[in-house]
Amino acid sequence: EKSLKERAATKGLIYGAAASHDNLISDSEFAKVFIQQSGMMVPELEFKWSSGNKRLRPDQNSFDFKAADWMIEFSQKNDLLFRGHTLVWHHALPNWFEEQVNRQNAELLLTKHIQTVVGRYVGKVHSWDVVNEAIAPSHNIFNGLRKTPWLDLLGTDYIDLAFRLAAQADPSALLVYNDFGLDYDNSKDEAKRQAVLSLLEGLKSKGTPIHALGIQAHLSGDSHSFNPQKFRDFLSNVASLDLKILITEMDVKDQNLPFDTAMRDRTIAAAYEDYLSVALDEKAVIAVLTWGLSDKYTWLNEFQPRKDKTPVRPLPLDAQMQYKLAWNAIARAF
Ligand code: XIL
Repeated sequence: EKSLKERAATKGLIYGAAASHDNLISDSEFAKVFIQQSGMMVPELEFKWSSGNKRLRPDQNSFDFKAADWMIEFSQKNDLLFRGHTLVWHHALPNWFEEQVNRQNAELLLTKHIQTVVGRYVGKVHSWDVVNEAIAPSHNIFNGLRKTPWLDLLGTDYIDLAFRLAAQADPSALLVYNDFGLDYDNSKDEAKRQAVLSLLEGLKSKGTPIHALGIQAHLSGDSHSFNPQKFRDFLSNVASLDLKILITEMDVKDQNLPFDTAMRDRTIAAAYEDYLSVALDEKAVIAVLTWGLSDKYTWLNEFQPRKDKTPVRPLPLDAQMQYKLAWNAIARAF
């Protein structure tokens, strides 16, 4: 049977998934399936400033590239395209950040970070999530921008600055703005879509070197407010700004669904299928990535656990690496 990456490729699309250094090293069965199914890898932790047990930035003046280099080498050895994730985010900042970074040194710190990290992997990265989650979850905040350390330290131009630095460091990578909460037909997501669109319009009109929107697509299996027409219109508005679109972190939360796993899997698969059938109609969409591949390794067991404490089932493969209905749904969408 053809893998997801092969099915995607026949349509000129890319299928990929997030994975972590530790899981790929400790679980050879997972690594094998990962290579079979994905044409692209995004590191779950290793390219963040500091996340979990991974410290790309142990201190203000140094870098620890061990895990990041390993991820790049793994992807090159196995013919995977690579996504850099992420240069500017309000999460995953190291402990020293708050104490040591101020309005005097922040710009130089960010400049050196982007030059060093992006510069190190020139020619090896398909796309960079230059800025992640910069729009406030609700609309009535300063300029639509989220209050983050970066906004506080550098002002509203920090986004433009980050993209310019990334473009200088690697003129060949696709530079992406990545965000979540853009999926559903409710006032929160509607406000967020509008805020993201105006951010993108503003950047394009300033000449910021931005090439794509990343839509995280952390979906909910219990949400019945997916509106195909509204989502279609949003994608087409983004495309009309001459931007590509990537679905970057797709998974389907089953936190609030009843226990019955067969029923849960059908609901989850339907959410994948409804969403992707609309997304892949839009010519600007070039890639679909899930945030993990197997239910054995998903952030949602920690971040959105079920009340009954049983494992969540958000991804295309189950914990034994077997295809689920979600796999079939993604396969059909390609
Ligand atoms: C998550 C990882 O999956 C977790 O393991 C980590 O502890 C926190 O970050 N949006 C993003 C990703 O852009 O980087 C997040 O990844 C999930 C939400």
